[in-house]
Amino acid sequence: MDKIVIHGGRPLNGCVSASGAKNAALPLMFATLLAPGPHRLGNVPRLRDIRTAEQLLTGLGASVQNEKGILEVFAEDLNGKEAPYDLVRTMRASVLVLGPLLARCGRARVSLPGGCAIGARPINLHLKGLEAMGAEITLDHGYVEARAERLHGARIYLDTPTVGGTENLMMAATLAEGTTVIENAACEPEIDDLAAALRTMGAKIEGDGTATITIEGVKQLHGMDYQVMPDRIEAGTYLIAAALTGGSVLVQNARADHMEALLSKLEETGAACQVTEEGVRVTGPAQLRPVDIKTQPYPGFPTDMQAQFMTLMTLCGGSSMITETVFENRFMHVCELQRMGADITIEGHTATIKGVSELLGAPVMATDLRASACLVLAGLAADNTTEISRIYHLDRGYESLEEKFRCLGADITRVPAEQ
Ligand code: EPZ
Repeated sequence: MDKIVIHGGRPLNGCVSASGAKNAALPLMFATLLAPGPHRLGNVPRLRDIRTAEQLLTGLGASVQNEKGILEVFAEDLNGKEAPYDLVRTMRASVLVLGPLLARCGRARVSLPGGCAIGARPINLHLKGLEAMGAEITLDHGYVEARAERLHGARIYLDTPTVGGTENLMMAATLAEGTTVIENAACEPEIDDLAAALRTMGAKIEGDGTATITIEGVKQLHGMDYQVMPDRIEAGTYLIAAALTGGSVLVQNARADHMEALLSKLEETGAACQVTEEGVRVTGPAQLRPVDIKTQPYPGFPTDMQAQFMTLMTLCGGSSMITETVFENRFMHVCELQRMGADITIEGHTATIKGVSELLGAPVMATDLRASACLVLAGLAADNTTEISRIYHLDRGYESLEEKFRCLGADITRVPAEQ
C-alpha cells in the first residue's frame, strides 16, 4: 500500500485552488439518472469516489465520458440492474441512486450499505420518505427493493436533517405526481447545488437552503449542463494548515459564505481571515488560542472539519473542547494523534484537547477520509518525519493533495507500495 511521508515543521505559504466538491458532484452524477440526457457536468474533481460513481452509472446502463473534469453522461436506456454491494460498500453515497432510479424506472434495487468507520449511518429516513411517496419497499438478502408505478407527492418530516436523505427524496420528488414538502430538510450548500442543477433539468423546487423544501413533480426532465460548486471541506483543510503552521494561504475559489462557522472559529484562535474576490486567505498567529466547537448540521460547524480542527487544537495554548453531535464514532483519529504527542481525552461525545508545545512525527494509520486529512495536517506541523499508511482514504476525497501542499512549501511525498 502507498504511504505519505512528510518532513514537517515548515510554515505553509502561497496559493492553491479549491477543486470541485466531492459531496456535491456525487449527487449531481446520480441525478443524471432522472433523464436521458445528454448531461454535462463541469468542475468534477479527479477522485476515487468519482470513479466509483462512474462505474455505478455504467453498470446501470448509462454511458459516461470523463475528460479533464468534464463529465458527459447519457442515460437513455437504463437496464434496471442493481447497485451492487461491491460498489455500495466502498462508497455509501451510492444509495443516492435509489430515488432517481425509482422515480424514472418505477423500480430500484440497491444494496444496503452497512456500518462504517464513523458510525452506524442507517438509511431509514430515505426509505420512510420514499414509502410516504407511495413506494413499496422490501428488504431482500441485504438489498433494498423499491417499486412504485409512479411516486406521488407527500409531506415528509425528517427526524434528523439528513443530507443524503434530503437529496434522495428531493430527486425522487421531481418526477412524482403532485407536490412534496420535505420538513426539517438539510440546508447544506451541496443541497442548494443539487436543487439548482435539478432546476436546470426542468424540475420545480423551492425553499432549498431552508428547512422546508417544496418540490412540484413534473412528467419528465431533460439534460443538464452544470458546474459543480467548490469544495468547502477541502478549502477549509488548506486554511487550517495555514493557521496551524503559522503561514499564510489563499484558497482560490473558496466560498466564504459556505464556511462561516469555520472562519469564525479560526478567528477565535487568533488566525486572520481575509475574504477577497479571488477566495479566502488565512494567516496563522504567533500563538494559537484555545477554542471550543460543537459539530452540527449546516450552518453549524461541519462534522467533516472536526478531525482537521482537532489537529489545530493540539497546538493551541490551553484547553479546547470538541463535542461531536452528528456521528457517534467520529474520534478514531484521536489514538493516532496521541501517538504524535497530542494530549486528548474522550468522554462520550466530547474530546478535551490540552495544547502541547509540539507534535512529534511518527508512523500513523488513516481510518477514514477526514481522519487521514487530520494526520496529514499533524505531519505538516510536526518537526520531524511522519509516515501515513492506508492513504487510499485520502484519494477518495482530496484531489492532488501532495501537489497542492508542495505548492505551499510542504515537504510531502507519496511512496508507492513495494511491488
Ligand atoms: C453526508 O453524509 C456527507 N456525504 C458526509 O461526508 C457528511 O459527514 C454528512 O453528510 C454530514 O454532514 C456525502 O455528502 C456524500 P447524513 P450522509 O445522512 O448524507 C443519521 C465526508 O467525509 N441518519 O446527513 O450519509 C446518520 O446516522 C463524508 O465527505 C439517520 O439516522 O449523512 C448521522 O448520524 C463522511 N437515518 C446523521 O443522520 C438516515 O436515514 C447525519 O447523516 C440518514 C441519516
